[in-house]
Amino acid sequence: MNSPAETISCKQDFPLLADPDRRLHYLDSAASTQKPETVIEALTRFYSRDYANIHRGVYDLSAQATESYENAREKVRVFLSAGESREIIFTRGTTESINLLARAFLRPRLREGDEILLSALEHHSNIVPWQIVAAEAGARIRVIPMSSRGELLLDSLDELMGPKTRLLALAHVSNALGSVNPVKDIIARAHEKGIPVLLDGAQSAPHMPVNVQDLDCDFFAFSGHKCYGPTGIGVLYGRAELLEKMEPWQGGGDMILSVSFEKSQYAEIPAKFEAGTPPIAQAIGLGAALDYLQGIGMDRVYQHGLRLQEEALLRLREVPGLSILGEARERIASISFLMDGIHPHDLGTFLDQHGIAIRTGHHCAQPVMDFFGVPGTTRASFGLYNDSEDVDALVDALHKAREFFRV
Ligand code: ALA
Repeated sequence: MNSPAETISCKQDFPLLADPDRRLHYLDSAASTQKPETVIEALTRFYSRDYANIHRGVYDLSAQATESYENAREKVRVFLSAGESREIIFTRGTTESINLLARAFLRPRLREGDEILLSALEHHSNIVPWQIVAAEAGARIRVIPMSSRGELLLDSLDELMGPKTRLLALAHVSNALGSVNPVKDIIARAHEKGIPVLLDGAQSAPHMPVNVQDLDCDFFAFSGHKCYGPTGIGVLYGRAELLEKMEPWQGGGDMILSVSFEKSQYAEIPAKFEAGTPPIAQAIGLGAALDYLQGIGMDRVYQHGLRLQEEALLRLREVPGLSILGEARERIASISFLMDGIHPHDLGTFLDQHGIAIRTGHHCAQPVMDFFGVPGTTRASFGLYNDSEDVDALVDALHKAREFFRV
């Protein structure tokens, strides 16, 4: 798979990227990552040889499937360095994790006049669920501002965290700008005031080692499909004592101990939050993806990303008429940029014709776009399979775009 050398070279592990006829330069990993053969094989094996529903059958196939599903939960625990596997709840993705928390944790605790603190860098999925419960309760959203570098301005943090703040929900890494927020420090400051913190880890989990105990966050959400795993699977980590106090958010099979028409008794965590048949194959696929990442080592994944980022930033800055949005000192390799005289969508289409898959638009972060006064950007986001060839291809195509659009 990989040599122990410094640079990661793993395109050959990804069938879609290894196809020589295709020569795809995939630069949209912040939206979703490609899948390594090992993940595809794990899904195929489960569906073709090992498939059954879980937690239900006395027969061996079901018991084996249950074991594989629970093993995947343990792999997530290790990946996040969580204390206990019952603190890992499988969801459909980061969005569902946040909605679960909004419904089951915050809504019952939210009163009129209360406040929910977010940051100026949030993805829509870490804004809208809070707006929904805030509107129901008569609470209000407050926002930690940011600078034009795309860094949070923390001078006002203590003022923003008042006696009515019920939760701080914060991106670990910005999907639109790549900024890495100083979350450990912010969490410590929130905890001094007794405020629980959710980290949206959708963009950090694929790029860097995450240790939820060291960060001391109360909740952490991430998506399988951005971590080289399948779609339809995500994770909500929560501290056991908080999860235990929460009521279920969905009712159904598997989340109960007993049911009668008079009353139902709920199961313990994590089952309490996993009503119905869960995404079994997807959880097993996520387990395979985390095995793949751990096989490389998250420290190496992080270093690889930093090197690519440095190279890409250097090369992009040399392209005339190109400006980069967000220059946070600490960042990962998701780079939003504008080209003078070329609309991002036109640029995205042109780059596609040159074999480069790249996202354009508002990146589900309209408040970030509003801050910069632009409707959208072009965003190059790198994964562990990208290399200097992808950077070269992007930069060459950008020069060609300038000629083509005559700017
Ligand atoms: N949240 C994903 C992105 O940033 C879809 O592209």
